[in-house]
Amino acid sequence: SFIQPPQVAWASGALADGPLLRKSTRIQDLTHVFADENARQQLAGEQVVYDVEMLDTSPADGELYTGVTHLYPGRVGCEYFMTRGHFHARREQGEVYFGLRGTGLLLLQTEQGDARLEKVFAGSVHIIPGFTAHRLINTGEEVLSALAVWPGIAGHDYAALARGFRIRVFEENKRVQAKEVQNG
Ligand code: 6PG
Ligand code: NI
Repeated sequence: SFIQPPQVAWASGALADGPLLRKSTRIQDLTHVFADENARQQLAGEQVVYDVEMLDTSPADGELYTGVTHLYPGRVGCEYFMTRGHFHARREQGEVYFGLRGTGLLLLQTEQGDARLEKVFAGSVHIIPGFTAHRLINTGEEVLSALAVWPGIAGHDYAALARGFRIRVFEENKRVQAKEVQNG
């Protein structure tokens, strides 16, 4: 009898048949993450912005984590829903993202403050080098789901970018507009 491995449904990103951990991030958890804090406060706090599902595997040195982020469509004011975004606590540790469904952007920013945006779509592959902060942005009308693989030792540093990334992405005149901002 062969081992039944965990599975990812490519079309939806749903993980199954493994020990799973889940975390929902809601509007109420994202204080000062979006440019328009007043607009955020007008929204229902319990509304889920993104769900992360991951395999509950070893975090030991050399081991890899596997997880899926489901980022829902929506906006805070004109700014598209996005993840909080982070550097890894272990700055040198990279990560790979794979777009599964929906459309959006992956915002990458170096420690020097250079920011860039990669298109995310079903089949897109994103090599996130070490020393590079990352944030998913859903610019579409559907759920944006992305598979990620990263070192168990990487950890998260949210504080370093608490004042924001150098680029924010808004809907303006029904179009996706990226804007450079001063803080971050
Ligand atoms: C990680 C991954 C990824 C990420 C989620 C949620 O390092 O764990 O990049 O699983 O955590 O997409 O994004 P935030 O951690 O920025 O909220
Ligand atoms: Ni990460």
